Amino acid sequence: MEIKEQLLQKANNAKINAYAPYSNYKVGASILSKNGNMYSSCNVENISYPCGTCAEAGAIAAMIAGGDKCISAILIVAEAKELVYPCGACLQRIAEFSDDETIIYLANSKEICKQYHVRDLLPQNFKAAELKR
Ligand code: THU
Repeated sequence: MEIKEQLLQKANNAKINAYAPYSNYKVGASILSKNGNMYSSCNVENISYPCGTCAEAGAIAAMIAGGDKCISAILIVAEAKELVYPCGACLQRIAEFSDDETIIYLANSKEICKQYHVRDLLPQNFKAAELKR
């Protein structure tokens, strides 16, 4: 199976397990790391709404726990008619572990529909280098 198909399958599988009883909006995200490993997760909501976490945040946490730090591609899929774009906070999370080549794929359950570089969606992100002066 092609890498992009594998990414879609992993995100779709994670989406099935999404815990979204408050929004009824299930999201899955999968990551291909620069080292060739794949990670995935889903959104996990909470009765205390701000405690909920996005699918991308979960996938990034899994990647870090797995020992990888650089995202080659991240795919996001929602159980919805419209494509889901990463929220602002998740764009910042993605940017932390991305480079100029990192691709963000937006998919529906069947196929990848759009692809972006991080800079397309977050042209001016807050950079850690600014703290190192
Ligand atoms: N959500 C994500 O998981 N990723 C996004 O990029 C956008 C929003 C989740 C958070 C919440 O559980 C639900 O979608 C509705 O906002």
